[in-house]
Amino acid sequence: MDFDNENRIISPDLNEIDNDIEVSLRPKTFNEYIGQEKAKENLKVYIEAAKSRGDVLDHILLYGPPGLGKTTLAGIIANEMGVQMRVTSGPAIEKQGDLAALLTNLNEGDVLFIDEIHRLSRQVEEVLYPAMEDNALDIIIGKGPSARSIRLDLPRFTLVGATTRSGQISAPLRDRFGDIERLEMYSPDELAQIVRRSAGILGVMIDPDGALEIASRSRGTPRIANRLLKRSRDFADVMGNGAITSDIAKIALSRMEIDELGLDSIDRLLLTSMIKNYNGGPVGLDTIAATIGEEAITVEDVVEPYLLQIGFLAKTPRGRVATPLAYKHLGIPFNGGNDNGQQRFDL
Ligand code: ADE
Repeated sequence: MDFDNENRIISPDLNEIDNDIEVSLRPKTFNEYIGQEKAKENLKVYIEAAKSRGDVLDHILLYGPPGLGKTTLAGIIANEMGVQMRVTSGPAIEKQGDLAALLTNLNEGDVLFIDEIHRLSRQVEEVLYPAMEDNALDIIIGKGPSARSIRLDLPRFTLVGATTRSGQISAPLRDRFGDIERLEMYSPDELAQIVRRSAGILGVMIDPDGALEIASRSRGTPRIANRLLKRSRDFADVMGNGAITSDIAKIALSRMEIDELGLDSIDRLLLTSMIKNYNGGPVGLDTIAATIGEEAITVEDVVEPYLLQIGFLAKTPRGRVATPLAYKHLGIPFNGGNDNGQQRFDL
């Protein structure tokens, strides 16, 4: 079976339709931004301090699962600093020259946002180091024995890097960030506030229970919450009077096959495959990914984080294990797991 993750309704990845709404819903200031209190409070202090000194903000690394608002936060940082933001991504910067062109076009104090920064090549990273440390661009002129290096001054800038896992970025790059912020999954309450805010912007009527229903099935991710809000509005328009009530939201979500905890068919397939084929595990990531016809990286970055977060999946040195909670949710009797597994759960 081949799943197209982009079309998965609860995929935290950005698709084109989302992109338009996401941009219109994106908060522009810290005041509008709901949740991520820890990161927000720290960043506010660093921004205020940098501004009061007339300084450029230090380089910042944002990490956390997809869809939690890393780009949004970078935009807020630039906005609150009163500077422009240039947006690019690791895979888009293929050659050293691509990065050099970006860097030389920055204005003093600008934010350069590099999404998926862990995907920069080694060569490109090497251009980034002197740029981050000394605001310098080292250019090699000529080839062979007559080659020499000249150093160009760059405007001072703030690099905001985003990655799904900080462990994926190289140590020398990570060390050059002055601040590393981990973004957390949002609570249902926070997501309900986001849904209500978005509904207000989109002109959709929603009652608090409807918002909470959507929020609690959005697996901690605003991008998913906003997508489910739009789909629920369609059901409200066709099956109700346009307002999203708790009943309408329940109907919409069950039609989208998203259960009370926000699990979709892929999550359920992953867990049932682990349970039925491997007696709940431990099973290796590659094996389980192949069993459900997904790429290991997608399973790891997109499917697993929420299942780990809600305690349905555990990572052990010998592989992934489905927990008794997962069995319970799927209505499968727990038989104690594998004897040879390191991980055993007492009931
Ligand atoms: N839309 C998406 N993420 C948001 C957030 N954290 N706060 C407010 N609106 C949002």
